[in-house]
Amino acid sequence: MAEAQVPAPASQPPLPAAGPDEVALLIDGRPVVAKKGATVLQAAEKAGLLIPHYCYHPGLSIAGNCRMCLIEIEKMPKLQIGCATLAAQGMVVRTTTERVRVARNGVMEFLLINHPLDCPICDQAGECRLQQYEAAYGAGRSRFVEEKVHHPKRYDIGPRVVFDAERCIKCTRCIRFCDEVSGSHELGLFERGDHAIIGAFPGKPLDNPYSVCTADICPVGALTEKEFRFKARVWFLKDVPSVCAGCARGCDVNLATFENRIHRMTPRENLEVNRYWICDAGRSSYAPLYERPRLDGPIVKGEARPGSWGEALDAAADLVRGVKQKSGPQGLAALVSARLSVEDLHVAGRALSGALGVARLAVPPHEEGEDDHLLIRKDKTPNARGAALVGVGAPHAGRVKEILEDVAAGRVRGLVVVGEDPVGEGLLGPEALGKLEALIAVDWWNSPTMAAADVALPCAGYGEFEGVFVSFEGRAQRARRALRPRGLADPAWRILAELGRRFGMAGEYASASAVFDEVAKTHPAFAGLSHRALGTLGLRLEGA
Ligand code: SF4
Ligand code: SF4
Ligand code: FES
Repeated sequence: MAEAQVPAPASQPPLPAAGPDEVALLIDGRPVVAKKGATVLQAAEKAGLLIPHYCYHPGLSIAGNCRMCLIEIEKMPKLQIGCATLAAQGMVVRTTTERVRVARNGVMEFLLINHPLDCPICDQAGECRLQQYEAAYGAGRSRFVEEKVHHPKRYDIGPRVVFDAERCIKCTRCIRFCDEVSGSHELGLFERGDHAIIGAFPGKPLDNPYSVCTADICPVGALTEKEFRFKARVWFLKDVPSVCAGCARGCDVNLATFENRIHRMTPRENLEVNRYWICDAGRSSYAPLYERPRLDGPIVKGEARPGSWGEALDAAADLVRGVKQKSGPQGLAALVSARLSVEDLHVAGRALSGALGVARLAVPPHEEGEDDHLLIRKDKTPNARGAALVGVGAPHAGRVKEILEDVAAGRVRGLVVVGEDPVGEGLLGPEALGKLEALIAVDWWNSPTMAAADVALPCAGYGEFEGVFVSFEGRAQRARRALRPRGLADPAWRILAELGRRFGMAGEYASASAVFDEVAKTHPAFAGLSHRALGTLGLRLEGA
């Protein structure tokens, strides 16, 4: 039941009604309702009001050490820190008074006393809170004329993170992350006063599976990601919201792009999936796009150069027909990857099992390591759940083995491989390859399987296509196109649809979202969904 409205002083707007688990307060004259237990800083954030802060992070415990979030609260003689003061019923908070302004000015001056004049050579420039807050709340000058305290600069505090101790404001976010999130406890605060310094314990570098998250949450340029340092100025980057395809968790990420290239991947907040974090391996999962060889267009074996899509698809269709005539549908099999999107897998099912009449289709599993306490899953495919839900089938090592044994025995004469590399993984040797009359491969890179194929059809890689992945928890989320595909590469669903059309498959798709609309109509788990409905945070599928 809602509580009765509390009368406020005549000059203030009335307090809004608050529910039993809520409190109503005024922040800068604005009525705000917050959950009981929320801090003033959180209540203000919810109401769209920024209280500047360094050490507070929603995913960590409260340290209250930077003092940047000082605010004035009616009936309290001293300024309070908004990050550690609970919002209370009837509280009247002011965040922009002269007292607050002078206090923030002082905090900024202290924080910058020993800070080096590094901005022109600092990789954090453009996303540094010291820069932002100095412009907004600082005095714009320093009275400090003495020699600054010097600390070690630019050294590897771990294999993936570089530390510049002079830039550190000792907010302890990085220490709390290692203690509370990764649980790896590598970092501590040593010494006292202006000699205090963050460091790794002896013999224990910052080396945990989530180490680069410390660089994400460091509010200044003290911890930076080694891989990204000086690759691009952040104001040139455009963040495209997407999903990591590194494992079955499906963490929400931003792909930072510039000039048709992904320059970094950072976590995107989704409290139901990854909260504020991603693992280091997932963060680099786009790297193969730039490390592996790629094709500029489809290739028919024996041709020196990529040809047209029409010719390549006709050649693939002729080969499949040839096998079917001689050996019947039993002579045809397919391996389809759980790294493909729901759209790709749906069209693969329609085209391969339906139109082409491929007798057997299997999805290879890709497991490595173990599930950990935080995010990492041993299933390294992003869409095993999606493959099962669209009817292609869950990953199954036994079925894959059977197909490959039948290839080796000459019982399967035509193999279609989509997004997998059995040749590169040593599952399909030269002898078995020699028995195949038709090997049709679709993949984003020129894998050994693509190189061995009679027809190699290059598809769009990660970041180059729109599609949906279903996480191991049954959450459908959109992977977004952030780049133009390489050369003539097309999304896998379009290639498979064109191949299917050569065998009488009906219907045309204008886009991935049109494919997904068909998925929503034909597969009950996706009923009523669309790309638009999934939004940027995705939705948990009914019954998942
Ligand atoms: S290194 Fe960064 S996150 Fe760690 S205490 Fe210093 S400023 Fe804070
Ligand atoms: S846990 Fe999995 S989905 Fe998340 S960032 Fe790591 S690899 Fe990507
Ligand atoms: S954010 Fe409140 S003291 Fe640092």
